[in-house]
Amino acid sequence: MAVPISGFSKKTKQQKIDWLTSTYLANDPTASLTLQKYWNSDAQLQKLHDDFIENTISNYYLPLGVAPNFLINGELLTIPMVIEESSVVAAASNAAKFWLERGGFKAEVISTQKNGQVHFNFFGKEGDITSFFTEIKPTLIESLATLQKSMQKRGGGLLDITLINSSEALEGYYQLHCTFETLDAMGANFINSCLEQLAKTFEAEAHKYTPFITANQFPEIALSILSNYVPECLVRAHVSCPVADLATNNIDGATFAKKFVRAVNIAKTEPRRAVTHNKGIMNGVDAVILATGNDFRAVEAGVHAYAAKEGRYTSLTDARIENDIFTFSIELPLALGTVGGLTTLHPLVKFAFSLLQKPNAQQLMKIVAVAGLAQNFAALRSLVTTGIQKGHMKMHLMNILNQLEATTSEKEKAVIYFTTNPISHSSVVSFIDTLRA
Ligand code: MEV
Repeated sequence: MAVPISGFSKKTKQQKIDWLTSTYLANDPTASLTLQKYWNSDAQLQKLHDDFIENTISNYYLPLGVAPNFLINGELLTIPMVIEESSVVAAASNAAKFWLERGGFKAEVISTQKNGQVHFNFFGKEGDITSFFTEIKPTLIESLATLQKSMQKRGGGLLDITLINSSEALEGYYQLHCTFETLDAMGANFINSCLEQLAKTFEAEAHKYTPFITANQFPEIALSILSNYVPECLVRAHVSCPVADLATNNIDGATFAKKFVRAVNIAKTEPRRAVTHNKGIMNGVDAVILATGNDFRAVEAGVHAYAAKEGRYTSLTDARIENDIFTFSIELPLALGTVGGLTTLHPLVKFAFSLLQKPNAQQLMKIVAVAGLAQNFAALRSLVTTGIQKGHMKMHLMNILNQLEATTSEKEKAVIYFTTNPISHSSVVSFIDTLRA
């Protein structure tokens, strides 16, 4: 039975591992060896990774792949993707190639505003809080002068503060809704520091405000934090071509286009399908977000909230045929950074940015949106033609062979055999069993 441990974070890495193996792993020596195998031989580089979080005991690898041939607004890019799912990079590369021959992807940033709130309670008269806010708004803004200095120098900073009365939804609940421009920074630290300062100033000023003193009713801060819902930080990407140019996998262009639009409309109508449809989009989005050291949890949370913005969860993409022209588009809220955070720390993230020709945040928004659109195109193209499993299992074959500890020669034979035979876990097992018999 394990007993609680105190001071765990103060122990050395080896002491932590020893405690884990003796407490939970019956002193299995292979556990410690496995962890060590993933340590970097460059001690300084390992230290960098150790310091990203608390209690690091090893590194957790995910493949970094690349999808070439992405033509985006006339520029040819190779997109770095970090993902474990076998078929995602292959699918992205296929979609990139397909659209390369049909004019490529177009993308535009629609808006770049981020936001955060100081949530507070106030049970006094609405008129008092409204006039207090009007009176102290300049003081609130002034209190950010030092914090904002360098962001303002670069052209960003706080844009506005508004008072929102949400007391009908929750008794006594108000917000200071603050909007920000954070340029190439994702902005979480900047926004949260500003919000905490605004909360302090707000509270201090409130204690000097006569109507509050007279009524003995003061606003009380509940919490101050940025929002990961950023519908005013929006990017749009699309592809378009004559319907006839879509002929694919033995299907003529018009039939393919109709089936494709129908598939998107099903995702627009049925939330159960929309979730999987959007999951496919996030295969592309998250892979680029991870490769570029951005916060995929923030992006996931914000994107799914956006998919439900009309009160019902729906598709993030749209497809239509007008005058024999097929257009397929995506709109995503994305708060991304190309400076700060891991972007200047993680050597592979630095590599990813160099590969992408050092994009700024707006360019990265476009690249990520295109990756999501491409992924959705590839998934729907398979789903409405061959089905998804053919391509997926082709890519998954190597995982099954590795699970079976197949030798190089067994793998070569399997790849040839399964080029023309259906792949399933059991068919691969019996093929290898036959080879070994
Ligand atoms: C699998 O990771 C993603 C798909 O399920 C997406 C979709 O169904 O559109 C293939």
